[in-house]
Amino acid sequence: MHTSAKELAAMIPPGFTLGVATAAFQIEGALDEDGRGPAGWDVFAAKAGNIVDGHHPALACDHYHRMPQDVALMRELGIDSYRFSISWPRIQPGGSGPVNRAGLDFYDRLLDELLANGISPMMTLYHWDTPLPLDEAGGWLNRDTAYRLGEFAAIAGAAYGDRVARWVTINEPATVTTNGYALGLHSPGLADFANGLPSVHHQLLGHGLALQALRAANVAGEIGMTNVYSPMVPNSGNPLDWLSAGAMDVAQNRLYADPVLTGKYPDLVRIGKFFSSFEHPDEDMDIISQPMDFYGLNYYMPTRVAAGAGDSPVPAAMAEAMGDDLSAATPGGPLHIEPWPDTETTAYGWPVKPEYLTVALKEMAERYPNLPPVIITEGGASFEDIIVTDKAANRSFIPDERRLRYLSDHIGTALRATAPGGEAESVDLRGYYVWSLMDNFEWSGGYNQPFGLVHVDFETMERTPKASYFWLQELLEERNLVASAGAAVAAAASSEPELAAGAEPGRSDGGAQPLGL
Ligand code: BGC
Repeated sequence: MHTSAKELAAMIPPGFTLGVATAAFQIEGALDEDGRGPAGWDVFAAKAGNIVDGHHPALACDHYHRMPQDVALMRELGIDSYRFSISWPRIQPGGSGPVNRAGLDFYDRLLDELLANGISPMMTLYHWDTPLPLDEAGGWLNRDTAYRLGEFAAIAGAAYGDRVARWVTINEPATVTTNGYALGLHSPGLADFANGLPSVHHQLLGHGLALQALRAANVAGEIGMTNVYSPMVPNSGNPLDWLSAGAMDVAQNRLYADPVLTGKYPDLVRIGKFFSSFEHPDEDMDIISQPMDFYGLNYYMPTRVAAGAGDSPVPAAMAEAMGDDLSAATPGGPLHIEPWPDTETTAYGWPVKPEYLTVALKEMAERYPNLPPVIITEGGASFEDIIVTDKAANRSFIPDERRLRYLSDHIGTALRATAPGGEAESVDLRGYYVWSLMDNFEWSGGYNQPFGLVHVDFETMERTPKASYFWLQELLEERNLVASAGAAVAAAASSEPELAAGAEPGRSDGGAQPLGL
């Protein structure tokens, strides 16, 4: 049964952050402006056949020129925090060496605009837009790229360390390796699973070096990284399906989470000695597994895994939406992904399964006894939208009920699972960020996968908030009412009724967290 905004608001614990997320390459456009250097993704996207329907990121949402308007949309929404990424090639066009002042200035203005509007910034350093010169030198197959990310983190830490509340070093290394180095669906477009494995280690090392650099820069905010997590479910009771699901769990989840949270690669990988050829595997592990202030988890869906090649490696609808015939990339693979029976799917062909978010959180708690506080740094759904125009009132309305339900069900599930008595109650869940603020360039899916709370007309760049935006706005308003009612009761009961220094009335987070989170 659907939970109302009011009921959901009552479940939100104090200090819990509700945010929206984007990434630089998906929204900014302005690829050739103000000294930005090329990214590997610029070249990949320009190549015929790589992006669905030949879509191109050159303009994206034109956010680079419309940033204040987009921040105003967030202020209207009433969101606590905005997660965005900074473009490495905009700030350091060569991927090493000189810094581009105009690039740094753009994010300076963004940070100031956010803070002036009461929105707490969460900054991702690396969301896939590797500077082209680094990709040409081997990208994440080259150990040097990890050191370059460390250097980039030092630049960002020095420039923004006073204003960023939360830092994410890297976003979803699993997707970079799988889609970029094993399947050829993302930049750099390599389709060689075995030879792509160094990209795992080097990204994780890059995370560790970035974390070190941010600590050395004495940044004021909290630091973490983001991994995607998909519970792996065997398609049947057949032991081969169970083995396949286990292998996928290692390849997609544990390979990235174990090293940062336990300092060890999963046993399956260690036995295989995949990683013994790295230069300094043990010293690297100390860097990779440094303590983090929070762990970012992206949850979209669970995965149903079966043994054998099947008819295709992933359900046809998924492959088509990503714009590729995956059978060419993985001929006769040992396992494949099955569609879920009787399950609603998104425009991407992804199954809608909020209950598996509980499984994800539970598995994280069981596997990692030292799990730091968790923030769900992304969750959301692409659905085709329809625009209803009320000519008389001269306004448009976008009734995206399915996205609204997806978000409500997933936020509700996460809150229930981690509340006292919940199945994952030991997880200290600190927030949920909706992917995404607005429709944007969805990588190889082009502009055909709208995830936004705000519709973007990619011809005119007009922004139109959808029903899901107004729902989240209502949820935030209700949350603030609950919080101020709670504050009033506490004040009445207290002998010193003044607000704590820095606290804002009407915000459940009370300004108690660093930098206004
Ligand atoms: C990525 C986003 C992407 C979203 C939807 C995540 O894997 O971090 O960049 O747009 O999923 O596919």
